[in-house]
Amino acid sequence: MRHKISLSTMFVAIGLTFSASAVFAEDAPAKTEEAKTEAPAAGNDARAAMLAYTCAGCHGTNGNSQGPAIPTIAGMAEDTFTDAMNAFKDPEGGKNATIMDRIAKGYSDEDIAAMASFFAKQKFVAAKQDFDAAKAESGKKIHEKSCEKCHEEGGTKDVDGSGILAGQWKPYLHYSLVDALNGDRAVPKKMAKKLKSVHEEKGDAAIAELIEYYASQQ
Ligand code: HEC
Ligand code: HEC
Repeated sequence: MRHKISLSTMFVAIGLTFSASAVFAEDAPAKTEEAKTEAPAAGNDARAAMLAYTCAGCHGTNGNSQGPAIPTIAGMAEDTFTDAMNAFKDPEGGKNATIMDRIAKGYSDEDIAAMASFFAKQKFVAAKQDFDAAKAESGKKIHEKSCEKCHEEGGTKDVDGSGILAGQWKPYLHYSLVDALNGDRAVPKKMAKKLKSVHEEKGDAAIAELIEYYASQQ
């Protein structure tokens, strides 16, 4: 049962109850002032930055989350970002959410496009976290065999909506993988198959090793 813990139960378990509107209200006037000082040509960028600012309370400055269960979204490819936001908006979107389903509903296609462009331009900063070097080494082998095809260059590249795995927070990776294994999160069929066979071969250890590998890339 251990691997049945989903992102949502975990949030309840650690007692994190967020009020999205409270997060949105926070600091908004200060940002308005800042945006006004931008050159007029940067109007769209300023608007995107302002929208993105409402996400900083959880996703960190410019999308680099302070962790541990909230993903870094800096450097996400525009399409990956847009698909993720639309999947959160859609109850059948296949993306398990504790909070993003409610948040995403507040944004129009234009808002999402503006934020997609903003976050894609931000530099992904790998999370500084402890890792087990021996497990990371085993995880690297599993990755190269089963995951590298889509999560290129050790999971550092966001290609075709794959997201960035290297340097992402361990608890977030853990809950994402558990959700994917349990079918609580829509991932490509090929990924589901690979993940299942890796898990059948080595059990939860395989998942732990993969996570240590991604965390080791700092
Ligand atoms: C209250 C905290 C909170 C706020 C505010 C918040 N997020 Fe999130 N975000 C999360 C959590 C937690 C997840 C993981 C999915 C979930 O549990 O809902 C997530 C996931 C995401 C993802 C998916 C990342 C991936 O790798 O698949 C995107 C994209 C995202 N958020 C964008 C945004 C944007 C854009 C905003 C601001 C408009 C925002 N978030 C505001 C907590 C937050
Ligand atoms: C056929 C291509 C493919 C293969 C093979 C694949 N993945 Fe994925 N992976 C994807 C795509 C595409 C997504 C984005 C799914 C979505 O959220 O819509 C993804 C999402 C993920 C996520 C969630 C990322 C996030 O930001 O939330 C993790 C973690 C992950 N994959 C790990 C793995 C691991 C570990 C393996 C190997 C056992 C693997 N993947 C194999 C394509 C693949």
